[in-house]
Amino acid sequence: MGRQEIEVFAVCPAEAIERDSARGFSLSRIDESGESRPFPIVVVRTVGNDYHGYVNRCPHDGVWLNIRAGEFFSPDRAFLRCGRHGAIFEIDSGLCIGGPCNGRALEPVALAVIGGEVCLCGVKLVEDTGFPGPFEDGDETMDIMIHPE
Ligand code: FES
Repeated sequence: MGRQEIEVFAVCPAEAIERDSARGFSLSRIDESGESRPFPIVVVRTVGNDYHGYVNRCPHDGVWLNIRAGEFFSPDRAFLRCGRHGAIFEIDSGLCIGGPCNGRALEPVALAVIGGEVCLCGVKLVEDTGFPGPFEDGDETMDIMIHPE
């Protein structure tokens, strides 16, 4: 019965991300073998009040987009930008349009705003209530531990 439902996981209050800004979340999930796997994502809120989610992993070298720069945007804020070698990505599609991974794309994460919360959709995850977080590490990233059912 429950398998027919769309699984959602609340990441943060929608208002916790200002328009024209982005925030990283350091999620974890447990894979089939019981191992904890990093699942870093970035949630972008546009000037027009859309929310876009991507796995926070540059297609070029697999690092966080906010590595080095500490933030997710190009200087003019028109694109997402990888701080390592400067690849730039369209905010609404995740497509890389300049830099070493030109033509590749960020992996999208399905999001919806439900009851004022930004939620991950379609992932079978539940929160580990035994985890002491969330806490912030100072570079716009929040750590949250999540587990599958
Ligand atoms: S790792 Fe992102 S551009 Fe090289």
